[in-house]
Amino acid sequence: MDDTAHLYGRSLLTLSDFSPADIRLLLALAHRARKDRRAGTVQQRFAGMSLALLYEKPSTRTRCAFDTAFGEEGGHPVFLGSDDIHLGAKESLEDTARILGRMFNAIQFRGFEQATVEALARLSGVPVYNGLTDARHPTQVLADLMTLEQHFGRLAGLKLAYVGDCRNNIASSLMIGCSLTGVHFTAVGPDQLAPPAALRSQCAPYAAASGARIECGSGTGLVAGADAVYTDVWVSMGEEEQSAERYALLAPYQVNSTLLARTGNPGCVFMHDLPAVKGNEVTEEVFEGPASVVWEQAENRKHTARALLLATLTRNAVQPPTA
Ligand code: CP
Ligand code: NVA
Repeated sequence: MDDTAHLYGRSLLTLSDFSPADIRLLLALAHRARKDRRAGTVQQRFAGMSLALLYEKPSTRTRCAFDTAFGEEGGHPVFLGSDDIHLGAKESLEDTARILGRMFNAIQFRGFEQATVEALARLSGVPVYNGLTDARHPTQVLADLMTLEQHFGRLAGLKLAYVGDCRNNIASSLMIGCSLTGVHFTAVGPDQLAPPAALRSQCAPYAAASGARIECGSGTGLVAGADAVYTDVWVSMGEEEQSAERYALLAPYQVNSTLLARTGNPGCVFMHDLPAVKGNEVTEEVFEGPASVVWEQAENRKHTARALLLATLTRNAVQPPTA
């Protein structure tokens, strides 16, 4: 594995902050982290360090992944929910960022605005990791890429069809992650929820360089040939007032056994970032069925979180291979 020293001190706000080669390094580190944890050979590489977990929205996977990946290696994670500190009430984002930067080695943020996580990175002076905003969810997609690689043994040339709300944080980060790593990406959903043109323009040169194809459309026949069908909730956190409209638009895009069969690929896997609303975007049958790799995806949140923390907070992330 190549040295990760050039990643020391870096933030991850959106996946395109990292080059395809950097993503390769992070995935290799994550596979190593998974192996080490299974072998019980976890080290203490974050001893003496602290990580702020700054959350404006709820979380199970992201919070637990960062908290345990950092804490198990001797680091001190501190959870700061929106009611716990003065941010947004008695203290500005700018002042909070500067305080946290003096107390912590890094900040992991979850919240609404992408501008907030960008400001935290600019003003705190420490690495900041985006654990979901309205616009992006890069740490989820690192785990998704790891899961694909684990299952298929490669990324380049696979086809991932994302079905549902194609302009949300998951779909957007998947388009970036797939186009950087050579995974053909197909977004399938209603025209009203199509990926923004600016994102397609941003990803076009990544896809040209990696050999990935990006296609978007409203016909579910576009899933033909997919190696993975991925969906997400119809209503993201913070958009609850749009529920009725979303249900009407997205009902034809439920991932069920008929849609999965349209891939024509018996080896196609089903993916979901979770939490899932079973009966809406996916049927219980598909979610619990043999194609589902959702638990691997969830577990890999922890291994990829550890990889990101190691690469950006330590100078010796690349250790000799485990026995
Ligand atoms: N997938 C994901 O980010 O899950 P949480 O909301 O539980 O963190
Ligand atoms: N799109 C979802 C992802 C949850 C992990 C949301 O933002 O609520």
